[in-house]
Amino acid sequence: MNNRYGKLASLVYHLDKPVGRSFGDVEYYLERLQGTSGPILEPAVGTGRILIPLLQAGLDVNGFDLSQEMLDYCQRELELRSLKTTLQLAGFTDFIADRPLEAIVVPAGSFQLLDSFEQGIAALSRFHASLKPGGRLLLDLDPVAAIVSVQSGMRTWSAPPHGLITLNATALEKDYCAQVTREMHRYELWEHGVLLETQLEQFSLRWWGVQELRMALEQLGFGEIVISGGYQYGKTPQDTDGIISFEARKL
Ligand SMILES: C[S@@+](CC[C@H](N)C(=O)[O-])C[C@H]1O[C@@H](n2cnc3c(N)ncnc32)[C@H](O)[C@@H]1O
Repeated sequence: MNNRYGKLASLVYHLDKPVGRSFGDVEYYLERLQGTSGPILEPAVGTGRILIPLLQAGLDVNGFDLSQEMLDYCQRELELRSLKTTLQLAGFTDFIADRPLEAIVVPAGSFQLLDSFEQGIAALSRFHASLKPGGRLLLDLDPVAAIVSVQSGMRTWSAPPHGLITLNATALEKDYCAQVTREMHRYELWEHGVLLETQLEQFSLRWWGVQELRMALEQLGFGEIVISGGYQYGKTPQDTDGIISFEARKL
């Protein structure tokens, strides 16, 4: 299975992007969701990096994720702060929303982890079905230009108390027609120079065009679409923007 976020990948995410760490997205989502009284869902919620600040702001947010390891971190972070919410072990195309949602938020380019056009459309149509009329979908994309910069490389993290984690990412394929990149991620946990554990994960992303996603949203019954660059609501995206944010309303 691709994009598994198993034990070592989850630990790396937790170390690299701890709860509350913002790339401008935490503030952006807090501002865009201000005053939302109804239920909000964060698909691919991960360790709660965004979910927890939203809960702390008094918003009614639930989450789901396909990785039990990521959800375990999230649950622990919630307990540390005496926060409660519902976390569901589910994927983008089979999650259950037990009440009509006021908003769905998909930060951090997580939507691109669905690595085919068809799966992306299936997720968008499930989002549409789960929203109440007038409800909003807020979703981030990495700019498509980044497809060319996907390349092999190595990163390391200290894993307290004595460990070191290495990640060797090998770029395997760039399928420009399908707009999909595939990498092999090899995680290794070392202690005092001894290799304790290795995990391999296939990692793939689909790179959506801006107008492609706009048309898909329109065809699925979304309107009032606002596309913004660099977490500045309403600012037309430029090539220099590191992120492109969509906001669309269920008609
Ligand atoms: C980049 S992390 C984002 C976590 C969190 N939203 C944040 O902003 O920090 C991506 C998350 O997507 C989850 N994921 C990957 N494929 C998924 C799928 N098909 N359905 C649901 N979650 C998925 C991973 O397990 C991981 O927790």
